[in-house]
Amino acid sequence: MTLENSEASPLAEVDALSNELDYISDIIEKKEVKENDIVPFKDTSPCEELHGKAEPPTSLQNMVSPSLSFLARPRTFEQAIKKEYTFWSQQPVVKLGEVVSTFGQIEDNKGVVSSLPIKVNENFEWSELDVLDPLQLDELHSLLAENYVEDLDRKFRLDYSKPLLLWALTPPNWKAQWHVGLRARTASRKLVAFISAVPVVLRVGPQSKVSAVEINFLCVTRKIRKKQAAVVLIKEITRRVHLEGIFVAAYTAGTYLPSPVSSCRYWHRTLNCRLMVEVGFTDLPTYQTLKDMIHMFRLPAATSTVGLRPLQEHDCKKALSLLRDYLFQRTTVHPVQTLDDFKHWFLPREGVVYSYVVESPRSKSITGFMSFYMLNSRVIDHPKHKEIRAAYIYYVVAGKNNLLVLMKDLLILAKKLDVDVVNGLDVMDNGKVFRDLKFGKGDANLHYYLYNYRSPPTRPENIGLVFL
Ligand SMILES: CC(C)(COP(=O)(O)OP(=O)(O)OC[C@H]1O[C@@H](n2cnc3c(N)ncnc32)[C@H](O)[C@@H]1OP(=O)(O)O)[C@@H](O)C(=O)NCCC(=O)NCCS
Repeated sequence: MTLENSEASPLAEVDALSNELDYISDIIEKKEVKENDIVPFKDTSPCEELHGKAEPPTSLQNMVSPSLSFLARPRTFEQAIKKEYTFWSQQPVVKLGEVVSTFGQIEDNKGVVSSLPIKVNENFEWSELDVLDPLQLDELHSLLAENYVEDLDRKFRLDYSKPLLLWALTPPNWKAQWHVGLRARTASRKLVAFISAVPVVLRVGPQSKVSAVEINFLCVTRKIRKKQAAVVLIKEITRRVHLEGIFVAAYTAGTYLPSPVSSCRYWHRTLNCRLMVEVGFTDLPTYQTLKDMIHMFRLPAATSTVGLRPLQEHDCKKALSLLRDYLFQRTTVHPVQTLDDFKHWFLPREGVVYSYVVESPRSKSITGFMSFYMLNSRVIDHPKHKEIRAAYIYYVVAGKNNLLVLMKDLLILAKKLDVDVVNGLDVMDNGKVFRDLKFGKGDANLHYYLYNYRSPPTRPENIGLVFL
């Protein structure tokens, strides 16, 4: 099962937002505010400068009665072509159905970028989040813990720990102004939405490197969904990124938008059968007892790759070179990391990221590399269980080693950390060993997108980029 946002589900809201927020929402829904008094999220978009024409204004009507087409998010191309993309059709992205055979930027870099933030409804205000401040990190954690990505049945919600968020948002050259919050203009100044960007150098196809950002953690609290908040967040982060002279972005979503560079799939390897069955993530096949299942998913107690050990600071140069060569030779979309980037993303951090190298006992050379990060899911309203402890496959380079054996070792190491399930995308070479290692295929795609960059569609195994 893939965790996806599930706003298509017309279930009752479960979160108890502050009274103040309810109040704001009531005002909007009862139309007590006149359109001229409050033009919600109406903006003077920098996109006007970008595209040389004004975008259709977002009106009060959008906030009061969202188009029914928003209720069911398209997941596939077939569903997408029936939908009107009011916002995305105006953006420099590959159009739905457009045949792309070349690589390169869609629009030229902009000379003039607005220095003014996108205008928002007077009940809200922009807020740069200082994630180094424990209280603000707490706020971000709570926003995501209550509102971020859920599965379609609303049984599970991704729960990024605070150390994980801090790691994800502060790589080398990170910028505080790219941690963009939207707060309610009330006494509590409640954080109601967020979006982030972190810098990345990408290589796409045969082109040389391009400075870009990875967009992540787009989240809008339930009370103000379907009211164009996502649009203003995306426009504001775009403006802030443009201000730094960067015009290309990469992002992923379960939703089908114009147009994915690749559509990948999560696979799941159960480690703790009892818990995974009890929470309803994994079904117990009718022909199997729990005991049979536990037997089927058992793993050896110890790893078997000779020379496998945790990554240390002095390994980083060699491990980076192994990873770089692999990504360059095997994939068409991948990050190009500096040594500092590599150290940030891979040096082990307890409870956050675990990386290992294979060191040849004879030559002492580094012949393999693998890593995973820890991202738990909350189990929503379960009488017994509160969370699923999950490890996500990050980057694995078998090098001279056997990929199946190395990946099995990854499962063993994760199990030692009390992980309940290992999740992985069918990117790079991962898909080659999933079936043999008893991974089950998830039920939805994760689409990869490039903003302002054209690339022919790419098969998952040629994607060398993993988002947190
Ligand atoms: C996804 C989410 C941010 C959308 O917020 P929203 O303000 O309700 O968005 P709206 O429904 O008003 O949609 C506005 C536009 O954003 C687009 N959009 C929706 N989800 C998007 C996503 N994940 N990435 C980029 N654009 C997205 C919509 O397609 C729409 O554009 P269109 O008119 O061109 O179709 C919100 O539902 C949410 O926080 N969900 C839970 C967390 C989540 O799934 N985050 C995304 C992780 S990839």
